Amino acid sequence: MSKIVKVLLLAFLAFSQMACSYINSTDNLDNQVDKLLAQMTLDEKIGQLVQKNGDHPNLDKMIEEGGIGSVLNQVNPDEVLRIQRLAVEESRLGIPLLIARDVIHGFRTILPIPLAQAASWNLTLVEEGARVAATEAASQGVRWSFAPMIDLTRDPRWGRIAEGFGEDPLLNGEFGAAVVRGFQGDSLSNPTSIAACPKHFAAYGWAEGGRDYNTANISESDLYDIVLPPFIKVFEAGAATTMTAFNEINGIPATGHAPLLRDLLRNKWNFQGVVVSDWESVTQMEVHGYTQNPKQSALKAMQATVDMEMASTAYETHLKELIADGKIEEKDIDDAVKRILRLKFELGLFDNPYAHTAEFPELLNPKHLNVAKTMAQESAVLLKNSNRVLPLSDDIKTLVVIGPLADAPHDQLGTWIFDGRKEDAITPLQSLKAMAKEKGIELKYHRALETSRSKNIIGKQAILNDVRRADLVLLFLGEESILSGESHSLANIDLQGAQMELVEMVATVGKPVVATILAGRPVTFERVEPMLDAVLYAWHPGTMAGPAIADLLFGVVSPSGKLPVTFPRHVGQIPIYYNHKRTGKPASNQTWERLDDIPVEAPQLSIGNTSHYLDYGFEPMYPFGYGLSYSSFQISEVKIEGSKLSVGDKLIVSALLTNTGDHEAAEVVQVYTHQLVGSRTRPVKELRAFQKVLLSPDDSAHIKFSINTNDLGFHNPAMEYVVEPGQYHIWVGNSSEHGIQLSFEIIN
Ligand code: BGC
Repeated sequence: MSKIVKVLLLAFLAFSQMACSYINSTDNLDNQVDKLLAQMTLDEKIGQLVQKNGDHPNLDKMIEEGGIGSVLNQVNPDEVLRIQRLAVEESRLGIPLLIARDVIHGFRTILPIPLAQAASWNLTLVEEGARVAATEAASQGVRWSFAPMIDLTRDPRWGRIAEGFGEDPLLNGEFGAAVVRGFQGDSLSNPTSIAACPKHFAAYGWAEGGRDYNTANISESDLYDIVLPPFIKVFEAGAATTMTAFNEINGIPATGHAPLLRDLLRNKWNFQGVVVSDWESVTQMEVHGYTQNPKQSALKAMQATVDMEMASTAYETHLKELIADGKIEEKDIDDAVKRILRLKFELGLFDNPYAHTAEFPELLNPKHLNVAKTMAQESAVLLKNSNRVLPLSDDIKTLVVIGPLADAPHDQLGTWIFDGRKEDAITPLQSLKAMAKEKGIELKYHRALETSRSKNIIGKQAILNDVRRADLVLLFLGEESILSGESHSLANIDLQGAQMELVEMVATVGKPVVATILAGRPVTFERVEPMLDAVLYAWHPGTMAGPAIADLLFGVVSPSGKLPVTFPRHVGQIPIYYNHKRTGKPASNQTWERLDDIPVEAPQLSIGNTSHYLDYGFEPMYPFGYGLSYSSFQISEVKIEGSKLSVGDKLIVSALLTNTGDHEAAEVVQVYTHQLVGSRTRPVKELRAFQKVLLSPDDSAHIKFSINTNDLGFHNPAMEYVVEPGQYHIWVGNSSEHGIQLSFEIIN
């Protein structure tokens, strides 16, 4: 460093210390926050509670006046630097901005969508992916991501199913916590760390009919036993912030829901972090019909302890008046400001407000791309593999690849990819071509449909000619990225457009047909499933879809994903989920009265019936936890230590997993329990633990699970969390439907 630069730097540091008399690194955080708060005017305090989009017309002026605490959606590093300078160097107190962004599944290196990540059942890998995302985002000055989304849902019509971790509370909690760890690293103050924001608090995934933003009518027991437990996990993992939701919950909009936000989150769970509203969800309380005007909306949100208002203007316009009216106290605002300032201190923003982009690893570097590729491989689920048609055999000399999604660099990235670029994406077609060339395979490609939604098949004759000449057909089916995501719900989740006709047309030739499906949700395709020899469900796999899928199809790696969500056979079966109740008349294959078997004018009886659909029965297309491998596995020697346990004891379960096939592959061993009788009826199965284990052929591994019996409880009719004495079943297996069953008892 030249002398001149050094002198300038020292002078600047001296100046900034002078300006920021509240910074004293030997003080504890609370003192620093208090000292700063003591210097703030009421306007400056309210300013910290304001979050504006990067393109706000008055952005600069508001920042200079201390009127903004956080800016979202500005990720151009030069612009970020410029506005951060305005805040730090031009505003009276020099309080840095918190730059926020939806970094949902990667920043520039796009990872598979979160639903796919859950299908990997690999927590370490997902944590690594979140670290990659954090490092890339932080390099541009972003220090707060609005993720993970842990809105558990049982409805694949809901477009945002893509953005969460599926239907199970344990998976949502564990994967949410993995993302929190990955984002926040060892310390928030590390310049590569970003604050996590698990969202949306709460029950957003319970939207009636799967229509986005719709009302959540939810029982207290489902709220407390299914929807909220993942939030406990992410807060235990140290999540610094959370976001409210757009929906109402049983009549009260989530953003003004004092019982949930103030009483439960703050007072009972002691959450000290920042609560931000969703985009304009404060003022939307008026649209819900819950408040009369923005002033009342500001009051409701404040009373619910929402610290920061995203985008709308109720706080900046009305908080002062609300104090003057005696509706809120300045102390309420102080509390919110303190939480925000504390986070800024924790992130080290006062000491180090500017991102030094050049000092970070490059965007899209090979290490990051490799994590994205591994994740795309591990998240693909092999749903069907008749006659072991996959992996592609060495005898194949001619391949025909068909379908628009084989070569759709934008769509393979999935929803929520603000900073991803299709130019970075490698498509399956590109990778398959490269691999075919290496192996001397002749490869033909037909797009067949303009997009996944097109109703006309282009070039039918040419397609059929090439299929006739081919040894095998690789179909790429599914949905474009725009068909899932926020406000992109579907009432019909069948394969779109003429895709089913395409399958039927190709299948008439009689060549083996392998379908790779790229989608943001479970799609239904029962009609054509029998025509497909193999189905690889790849979700929206991200930047590295191509290399990942080519490796999977050619058997360089074996698929190892398992479904994090139940696949319906028909949209009308929704909600269909594995952890359902038994009912008083459970169905079985023997009791399913089939539509086609019902005689004309048959007498209708009320005796001997069971809970099913005449046309679609009671079973899903593919169950939760299901997924095949190129290898085969055996689970044996399943044991539990002690068959009578007291509450608080550890339930120790062990098993031997053996790779009995001829491929190196990973299997996910899953543990489920069922409490036979409860003071409230219990789900038929609940996932309690899982482990993913990679084994070479003929190798075995002893697997041990330690399950805390305290975690086996639920909220009883008095809404107390209880672990009840009684009989339990336990299964150790490789899906929610296949496992070895044992029993144990919880005693008083
Ligand atoms: C979404 C949030 C998101 C926010 C900011 C909203 O529409 O619901 O999840 O974080 O926009 O982009």
